[in-house]
Amino acid sequence: MSDRLVLSHMGLVTSPSQSPDSAIAPTIHAHGLKLSLGSGDNAVEILRGIDLVVPRGQTLALLGPSGSGKSSLMAVLSGLERAGAGSLTVAGQDFARLDEDALARARRGRIGVVLQAFHLLPTMTALENVATPLELAGTPDAHVRAAAELTAVGLGHRLSHYPAQLSGGEQQRVAIARALAPRPELVFADEPTGNLDARTGAQIVDLLFARRAEAGSTLLIITHDEALARQCERVVTLADGRIASDTLAAHDVSDTVG
Ligand SMILES: Nc1ncnc2c1ncn2[C@@H]1O[C@H](COP(=O)(O)OP(=O)(O)O)[C@@H](O)[C@H]1O
Ligand SMILES: [Mg+2]
Repeated sequence: MSDRLVLSHMGLVTSPSQSPDSAIAPTIHAHGLKLSLGSGDNAVEILRGIDLVVPRGQTLALLGPSGSGKSSLMAVLSGLERAGAGSLTVAGQDFARLDEDALARARRGRIGVVLQAFHLLPTMTALENVATPLELAGTPDAHVRAAAELTAVGLGHRLSHYPAQLSGGEQQRVAIARALAPRPELVFADEPTGNLDARTGAQIVDLLFARRAEAGSTLLIITHDEALARQCERVVTLADGRIASDTLAAHDVSDTVG
């Protein structure tokens, strides 16, 4: 199947008459993304030209061997890191052109990131960890909202606990509540089950998908877990900084690009 046909199955072929703001406008539009670290002879090419278009609301699993560039790609797509080359539009914002402050503003409330190591602030309670991004986004009643978000992930009884007093699964749930509380349209999760036992991991995955279904957000998950990948509508594999395969799930529209 041609790339164009696959794209049209995903609702992505836009004729010139269609508004770029129409409902099917992609939420991520990346072309030729490159990322190098270091300079001169020490420069290491980490991303070597990534083309990726993600339609709004899609669930996408990002697979690939360790060191293939998955976390780096997520950092670029979520605006945490700036690409060295290429074009990138995320949630309607031209990430390649925004300066640091504008990028931070563009991310705020629109993009939620769940990192593998949770990255909760150890001196803040679960409630404060979730309320902080809401306060930054100017949400009224941030603490009330944060309590509701924590209750939604089953942690209503852990509001005043510090991260060190929580299990790994509970910390990951706080991290998810924190990422989702501002109702972002785009959610990134980097190996969200990597530090959890199988049962807790399955609960975390169910939670991510349930909250995504409620919000209609786009979900991009880095994982080594084939079963988790199969729950996603699309599986993209990276190898050595490039996209090696791009597959739509069989239960949706089945085909492979590249
Ligand atoms: N800060 C850094 N300095 C130098 N090399 C890095 C840095 N971060 C990542 N890399 C290298 O970039 C490559 C991709 O890393 P990463 O995106 O973390 O891969 P993955 O998430 O797929 O395991 C690896 O070869 C890694 O060693
Ligand atoms: Mg990684």
